[in-house]
Amino acid sequence: MAVPRGQFASTEIVDLAAIRQAQHHVEEKARPAAYSPTTSLEKIARDGRTPDEVHKLDWNEGTIAPPPSVTAAMMEYIQSAGGAYLKWYPHLSGGEALRLELASYCGVEDANLLVTNGSDDALILLCRALLAPGKVAVAPTPTYEHFCVNVAHTGAELVRVDLSDPFVVDVDAVATAVEHQRPAMVYLVSPNNPTGIEWPVESVRDLATRFPEVMFLVDEAYHEFGTPDGWTGEPRSCARLAATLRNVVVTRTFSKAFCLASVRCGFVVAHPSTIEDLRAYYNPKSVNQFAQVAAVAALRELDTYYKPYIAATRAARDAFVRDLQARGIAVRTGGAGNFVCLYLADGRTAELCRRLEAHAIYVRDLGARFPGHVRITIGLDMGKIADAIEATLHDMGHLTLAP
Ligand SMILES: Cc1ncc(COP(=O)(O)O)c(C=O)c1O
Repeated sequence: MAVPRGQFASTEIVDLAAIRQAQHHVEEKARPAAYSPTTSLEKIARDGRTPDEVHKLDWNEGTIAPPPSVTAAMMEYIQSAGGAYLKWYPHLSGGEALRLELASYCGVEDANLLVTNGSDDALILLCRALLAPGKVAVAPTPTYEHFCVNVAHTGAELVRVDLSDPFVVDVDAVATAVEHQRPAMVYLVSPNNPTGIEWPVESVRDLATRFPEVMFLVDEAYHEFGTPDGWTGEPRSCARLAATLRNVVVTRTFSKAFCLASVRCGFVVAHPSTIEDLRAYYNPKSVNQFAQVAAVAALRELDTYYKPYIAATRAARDAFVRDLQARGIAVRTGGAGNFVCLYLADGRTAELCRRLEAHAIYVRDLGARFPGHVRITIGLDMGKIADAIEATLHDMGHLTLAP
């Protein structure tokens, strides 16, 4: 049985049928791979292209600039006192101003928060604190691959749970894996990257209550792009659950809906006792002052700037899916997130990505881990992208067939 190894962006051939049969399988122990993400940024710079000349749809970043008030706040910080603040370390632990804004945004207390250098930093912190050789982490896959790398670095084992349909939530499959594996941690991404499925808050509460010895880590990097609740109009979150249950933690970020990936700001929401435990591994200087200033200014623009952008992105995603389907192109989504997946029955994902690059369209080839799939971030003007995809698939001699 060919089982994928713990390597990011590996090019190994994956025997999907055998993996499905196994339902969940333990990641082979190997020397942890270095985190070597693909990047389009250098290619863009090399070609001398400016942001408005490219469609950078490969990292699920926000696709518009943050509001002018955010850049103004950062400039003001740089220039104030003639730059004299730059010589000092940032406010510790993300600073009181940001923690207060975050507490109000998430409906929790300051004691429930730990601000981090992006949510990757939070995931690393949680893995270091909770995992070690001999321990197990369970993750329904496909999911955010860098988390799997973090697990490998702790020496713990990763058990991947293969959902019978990766675009449909299957809480029972997770519960069965937990029963069999008795993991220290379960990693649930909601909405999940790359499938867009959402793990219901009630299901997370039930799992956490049923397995009190297991930590349920809910990665809500794409929370703002979640399905709006019919009652409140806001996406559901496990943040309040995490504030009260000791075995649920949530991670969030400013890199996606807030269009601030470059400043590196994320945070953890957890029970105060979990936050205290995490402090043993935490560097309070890790959140730079630009990130703090930008994040505070961004939260103040939530209603005025970001909510309209988020709503427009959701509408663009749904329209893009309908448009591709009308053109006979196989597109798959669990329904949430600022991304969707194309499916190529013949597996020529690398070729499609390479051809789209010629049109300055950068998308993500998931073929190594998720055969036949290409992930596309949703921007506000997807008509051109659909045209380019259709023309490229035509040039490649086929249109895709639904799986
Ligand atoms: C599910 C998920 N979690 C976390 C991250 C990391 O985000 P950041 O470190 O920029 O907050 C990403 C980035 O793509 C992601 O997709």
